[in-house]
Amino acid sequence: MEKMLTGIRSTGIPHLGNILGVIIPSISIANKKAKHSSFIFIADLHSMVQIENIKIIKNNTYQIAAAWLAFGLDIDNCLFYRQSDVSYVTELAWYFNCFYPYQRLALSHAFKKNKMKEIEKISVGLFTYPILMAADILLYNAKIIPVGKDQLQHIEIARRIAYFFNKKIGKKLFVLPNAFLQKKNMFVLGTDGKKMSKSQKNYINIFSSDEVLKKQIMSIRTDSKSVEEKKDPETDYIMSLYSLIAPLEKIEIMKKRYLKGGYGYFEAKVALYEYIIHKFSSERKKFFSFMKNKPLLDHILALGAKKAKSIAHERLNWIRKHLKFNSID
Ligand code: ADP
Ligand code: TRP
Repeated sequence: MEKMLTGIRSTGIPHLGNILGVIIPSISIANKKAKHSSFIFIADLHSMVQIENIKIIKNNTYQIAAAWLAFGLDIDNCLFYRQSDVSYVTELAWYFNCFYPYQRLALSHAFKKNKMKEIEKISVGLFTYPILMAADILLYNAKIIPVGKDQLQHIEIARRIAYFFNKKIGKKLFVLPNAFLQKKNMFVLGTDGKKMSKSQKNYINIFSSDEVLKKQIMSIRTDSKSVEEKKDPETDYIMSLYSLIAPLEKIEIMKKRYLKGGYGYFEAKVALYEYIIHKFSSERKKFFSFMKNKPLLDHILALGAKKAKSIAHERLNWIRKHLKFNSID
């Protein structure tokens, strides 16, 4: 049985891009798979490279956990845990660090993008970020990795590591993972037309109050066409978000209104806002109720960590054996 695994960093509340790109497709796989063959975790160790005030990471982990649960993740079937609770992964990352070529990692786009900005602010953690990500995946021999488009290169690095390590040891210790992408949702655009992202203030957060959500939607950038003018549904960002969540008939109606003219961007934004409120009303309620019960979230994550640890422990000892290290209790 092929294993599925994915993670979201605890850098803020999951936005519509995370939800459509990863949370919904992962849950539909995880809930159908055989018991304990899906791994979903909160990448709190990874979030340390971005969040300077590490004290807020813990609260962020609750927000990520509440979002997964609000969307109906079946925690009896899937292993749901915090990355930092299963610290075997950092040992595996060290082994990978020791033989993966520096120069190859220096070519990774996340590092190159940041290097252009401020090299003095780049931590070693940011540099080796893809190595820890490879360890997250390869520790459990996961094959199916649901992610957004921006993570493709990281999955490629994990594949290379698996391939080279297997070759070095002379045994198939690691399965080569594959990114699982949904074409339609792999690159959800934010309010400014760039990739929706927690670190850019261009996100739509369905878990914010009605008022804040409305403000975010009203801030979607448009051209300056008047109400009367005909509009292009193919290039407009409101339409692009509406098309990802609304049913076909509703999308067609909105497209016709754009093409006909006499329909303003304000009305389109109100329609998007109302549809989001309608579509996600149950998830929003559940999210707020989970956020009020942090002991329950701690309990759920601790149960997941216990199960994940036992699998990771066995796997790590197997890897240690091939490196001629003693096994650990
Ligand atoms: P962010 O980039 O907002 O900080 P993360 O890095 O934690 O979010 O991403 C978690 C997962 O969500 C990753 O698999 C990532 O590819 C996916 N993702 C992030 N933003 C988007 C987006 N705009 N559209 C589709 N998927 C996304
Ligand atoms: N790097 C991913 C992101 O920024 C999060 C992540 C960490 C991840 N480890 C992973 C995703 C393993 C998939 C598999 O979104």
